Amino acid sequence: MTKKWWHDKVAYQIYPKSFCDSNGDGIGDLRGIISKLDYLKELGVDIIWLSPIYKSPFVDQGYDISDYYAIAEEFGTMEEFDELLAEAKKRDLHIIMDLVINHCSSEHEWFQKALADPYGEYADYFYFRPGKEGNAPNNLRSYFGGSCWEPVPGTDLYYLHMFAREQPDLNWENPKLRQKLYDMVNWWLQKGLSGFRIDAIINIKKDLDFPDLPADGADSMASCWRMVESVDGIDAFLTELRDETFRKHDAFTVGEVFNIKEGELPCFIGEDGYFSTIFDFSAHSLSDGKHGWYDAVPITFEKWRDTIIQSQLDVQKVGFEANIIENHDEPRGVSRFLPPYDQTPAGTKMLGTISLLLRGIPFIYQGQEIGMQNAKWNSIEEFNDISTIDQYHVARAAGLSDTEALEVCSSMSRDNARTPMQWSDAPQAGFTTGTPWLKVNENYHTINVASQENEPDSVLNYYRSLIALRKSPEYRDVFTYGTFRPAYEKTESVMAYYRISEDKRMLVAGNFGEKTAVLHLEKPVKKLLLTNETPEYTADQLTLKNCQVVVLELES
Ligand code: GLC
Ligand code: CA
Repeated sequence: MTKKWWHDKVAYQIYPKSFCDSNGDGIGDLRGIISKLDYLKELGVDIIWLSPIYKSPFVDQGYDISDYYAIAEEFGTMEEFDELLAEAKKRDLHIIMDLVINHCSSEHEWFQKALADPYGEYADYFYFRPGKEGNAPNNLRSYFGGSCWEPVPGTDLYYLHMFAREQPDLNWENPKLRQKLYDMVNWWLQKGLSGFRIDAIINIKKDLDFPDLPADGADSMASCWRMVESVDGIDAFLTELRDETFRKHDAFTVGEVFNIKEGELPCFIGEDGYFSTIFDFSAHSLSDGKHGWYDAVPITFEKWRDTIIQSQLDVQKVGFEANIIENHDEPRGVSRFLPPYDQTPAGTKMLGTISLLLRGIPFIYQGQEIGMQNAKWNSIEEFNDISTIDQYHVARAAGLSDTEALEVCSSMSRDNARTPMQWSDAPQAGFTTGTPWLKVNENYHTINVASQENEPDSVLNYYRSLIALRKSPEYRDVFTYGTFRPAYEKTESVMAYYRISEDKRMLVAGNFGEKTAVLHLEKPVKKLLLTNETPEYTADQLTLKNCQVVVLELES
């Protein structure tokens, strides 16, 4: 395997709107991010992914871009962005940005020109199609609810949008459009970006016949991902994208890819893949309901463990995936993956250890390093997220009461991850001196950076040690390239694995159950490298109490 500069890196996702507000308008901004670079450096991360900061009407929080070459005013200026790049570089930190090129905003100049001349050049930047007997061209349902098609005013045409109606899909079949996107990507890379997180990219290939698909809901529509799964031919687009842009700059790219087809993983992340890596969403997808959040499937510990293990075994034959506990589209991992009795600082450290030492590129989501949790939501009005509001209505339409629908949204909402970063126990968690755009989690008095800085045993300080261990000169190699091998996978409530290199054998083990677990050790312990509470062990036996996690070096 060819070694790459990013193989041994640890990444951190910033959700700019909720990270740090420097001017009191309630919205996080670039100056706020610059002020926290030292904090991130001290945490030990190498790559910072910024969720979208481009100009946008924020219908979908910046994932609706109206100008790919401009910074959203809410966040600052291009000069401030350049300053951020320079300050990051000084600290040896890489910046990557979100690349949202499946769709743009309906306010983007291209779309405005297309509307002005629906049969002209710019209409071909999008999918404008005639309706069928006064109805939409087909029965696809968008990811955010309702038809994927919206009428083009003054015509019998419709335009396609797989997300919100304010997010028209870009026509990748049009070589002119593709070239404009490549120019834009190269422009940012030349500026000094180290790469991109690539949004919703699996959706760029459409079935140009746009047939009706078998309905999968009471609305007689079919989810648009069914088209994604039924169509072939994305390879040509992604190969061209890679060759025209990323490859020329040795950029690091991480794809947001769901719905990968059987056997296609090597095309995506193999030695010659489209991307450096893609996120491993296998554990998150376990809760996917058939119809929405209201019929989400509960994730049991065994399912979670077995899924991660299987994914690790599959991926290591091919390349690297990026491992996450949560991101801006998911509820907080501590609230989701830990049983209630493990939702403690010890349990939080255990979950972090298990995730960060897996084979792959760890991505920490802002606030994860202090153990942020889901918020308590008192009414649907408190949410901002477009998807949450849709899912509330989906749940109501399926017969759930207001209280029940609220409960569903409270546990699944993307806004759980988007509440402001908890910096201190000052008002609004020290995130802003004004009124935050989304409410702060009430638990900020107990969970915040400032108090954890002062506690040697805090989750934050543990994450620092954990990252330092992963990147330490002695163990960096085994945690980067070492083989993953599951351990004790038949032992109830234990998640454990080995990372093995030529001269090292590491055991990472955590007890997620309430009862104490006794593990027979394969080899004698050489060194205890990290733990959240020193366990009892002898030459051939390790005893783990509830929530205890260890990283041991064994004789190899
Ligand atoms: C991705 C983003 C999500 C966004 C969607 C549409 O899934 O992560 O936040 O809503 O794409 O751009
Ligand atoms: Ca601000």
